Amino acid sequence: RSREMEQLLQAHEWTSKLYHFLLKNTEHGKPAMDYLKSRGFTDKAIDTFQIGYAPARWDTLVQFLDKRSFDLSEMEKGGLISAKQDGTGYVDRFRDRVIFPLYNRSGKVIAFAGRVLGDGQPKYLNSSESKLFSKSRTLYNLHQAKTEIRKLRQIVLFEGYGDVISAWEAGVHNGVATMGTSLTESHAAIMRGLADEILVCYDGDQAGQAAALKSIPILENVGFQVKIAPLTEGLDPDEFIRKYGAERFRHQILDGAVSSVKFRLIYLKKNHILLEEDGKVSYIKEAMPIIASLGSPSEREIYLKELSADLQVSFDSLKQECNELRAAMQKKANAGDNKPERWNNGRHKK
Ligand code: UTP
Ligand code: MN
Ligand code: MN
Ligand code: MN
Ligand code: MN
Repeated sequence: RSREMEQLLQAHEWTSKLYHFLLKNTEHGKPAMDYLKSRGFTDKAIDTFQIGYAPARWDTLVQFLDKRSFDLSEMEKGGLISAKQDGTGYVDRFRDRVIFPLYNRSGKVIAFAGRVLGDGQPKYLNSSESKLFSKSRTLYNLHQAKTEIRKLRQIVLFEGYGDVISAWEAGVHNGVATMGTSLTESHAAIMRGLADEILVCYDGDQAGQAAALKSIPILENVGFQVKIAPLTEGLDPDEFIRKYGAERFRHQILDGAVSSVKFRLIYLKKNHILLEEDGKVSYIKEAMPIIASLGSPSEREIYLKELSADLQVSFDSLKQECNELRAAMQKKANAGDNKPERWNNGRHKK
């Protein structure tokens, strides 16, 4: 590792200690501490996740780093501070924000996310991308969760910091988060190296559910067994745990996770009015390719039976339609494009 890298890692380490100290031990940190407490964060969580506070002043961190002889231009390149517009120096990037340190897999601080206290935009501000930090490859809490993940061969994937932290307090120690809803192939590959099954536990709002749907092929393509946790009422996991408690989160939400196929059918169903004939017809039309792509006949039968009961359409006609579609997909596959088993690829391979 280069000297610059060492310096940058060192600076991140010191900075996280500074922010954590300011939150816990100073008057400046009091409003941030009140905010965290009002949201239900415990002292234990604040310590475990090294949560901190960046004061409102423009130069708290710049002064701190300068005093310790860090090269400020390197620190700016490393995403830790910002250059002034007129080029005359540097200012703090994070001001008056609650700070969540972001770690790499081996537990070194590589970036920060800062949340406004209350409402305000942007809600979260991250360190800029740097030699140390790439958002598309970073998973929040992986360094602490990896032992449990390896042990269980299972990972729980969240959207946000608060979700991971609340779940951790609820006894779920194999949870990580992407920084928002943009899951990448790199994220998937990193996680697949540690686990066989993944439980997607995204927010219950429209954005979260749409992101869960989008995550399925990305995760199945690396060979994950994918399940989706059924968050409802627009709540995110953090809000669910605060409202209904840890026990119910584990039993209703995590144990209640459904297969990816089931989730896709549920998702589809929400967008069709099943009381009307054409709603039923278009629902069947969109649901059928999902069911037809299943490799296992018994799995297909299970979903076709559910569909039949749901829509009051005979099982026989649905089965016939499914078989016709499979034949058509097979033909197309033989012609060289889409394989019918595409969604299943890797799912059963170890
Ligand atoms: P959410 O909007 O669901 O936020 O974004 P949240 O995690 O529930 O935040 P709280 O509970 O209001 O504090 C999910 C995640 O997306 C990223 C963050 O990682 C956040 O945790 N995000 C969101 C950003 O990076 N920037 C934003 O402005 C918003
Ligand atoms: Mn501490
Ligand atoms: Mn969200
Ligand atoms: Mn959320
Ligand atoms: Mn939240």
